[in-house]
Amino acid sequence: MLKELGVGIAITGSGSATPTVSLDNQGLSTLVETSDEWISSRTGIKERRLSSVQESLSAIATLAATNALDMAGIAATDVDLIILATSTPDDLFGTACRIQAQLGASKAVAFDMTAACSGFVFGLVTAAQFIRTGVYQNVLVIGADILSRWVDWADRRSCVLFGDGAGAVVMQAHQSDRLLGFEIRSDGTQNNALNLAYQPQPKEIVSGVTIGQGTYQPITMNGKEVYRFAVQKVPEVIEKVLFRANLSIDQVDWLVLHQANQRILDAVGERLNIPAHKVISNIAKYGNTSAASIPLALDEAVREGKIKTGDTIATSGFGAGLTWGAAIFQWGR
Ligand code: ACO
Repeated sequence: MLKELGVGIAITGSGSATPTVSLDNQGLSTLVETSDEWISSRTGIKERRLSSVQESLSAIATLAATNALDMAGIAATDVDLIILATSTPDDLFGTACRIQAQLGASKAVAFDMTAACSGFVFGLVTAAQFIRTGVYQNVLVIGADILSRWVDWADRRSCVLFGDGAGAVVMQAHQSDRLLGFEIRSDGTQNNALNLAYQPQPKEIVSGVTIGQGTYQPITMNGKEVYRFAVQKVPEVIEKVLFRANLSIDQVDWLVLHQANQRILDAVGERLNIPAHKVISNIAKYGNTSAASIPLALDEAVREGKIKTGDTIATSGFGAGLTWGAAIFQWGR
């Protein structure tokens, strides 16, 4: 409905940034009992980037955003809205405003959004509502995570999967509409499959008044459940969005999925009948960078010249919540 009535949307720029330090599977096998062979064959991951103490989330997110603005050819002062999708903020009160300040995006309003590995797609869909209704013209959507802060580095079932990074896109009001469809979903009944949960400890601050003060606990994950969920829900939601957009599978030029596991990328591609050469993958280099993974993969593919103006992209994020979603758009103006 809004599509018929509202303003068109184009995704006009992308950018990304990753920490400089890389840890390969061989290095990880000196920390936990694992091997390059196990990790590569089960996940496709070869190495991951890890943030140092000096590298903040806001710093890599700001760099990714700057690169996206440069590609779009707009100034930070033209940005109306900044949405930062993250589960690992520098500050629980929000990190988006720091990024706003670092960019000098003085007229923008900025806020954080948490939807784990679905965060980028949720951010993109949220941004679309503001543009469609004519409220904002230029929006930065950033996906950034430093999951290494919250990984249990003694748990070989999960620590081998994750890495750190940031990616961003610029979405703009546009005469012709390039955002062809979207859907976002959640199922809280499966919430315990993947958590980074707060654990309160009782603390009596005044006689008779006990509060719960603690900290967040390292990531826990039921890998098999998450795998099953992803390979079922992701093809389903992409098919639904394609149907609504009146597009067939063979009109999709590129599948840009959340980079969680090469096996998930392969299984989704197979179920959708999308040939492997159309499935963008950079998981070998970065592992699962959560909210950053889609814009990071998109940006690399654009800069390598794979994704070209007008190409039709199906994207899908999935992860903790559980949450999932998809969007179909044509790249560029
Ligand atoms: N190295 C060596 N052996 C290992 C490792 C490791 N790193 N991890 C587990 N193993 C062992 C297990 O102990 C088990 O041994 P056992 O049979 O003697 O008990 C064996 O390998 C098989 O373990 P499984 O957990 O059954 O392995 P599985 O084939 O399910 O693969 C994996 C695990 C790769 C995690 C898979 O389940 C998966 O990819 N799931 C999806 C996870 C995911 O994508 N999560 C992120 C979601 S996005 C987000 O929101 C953050």
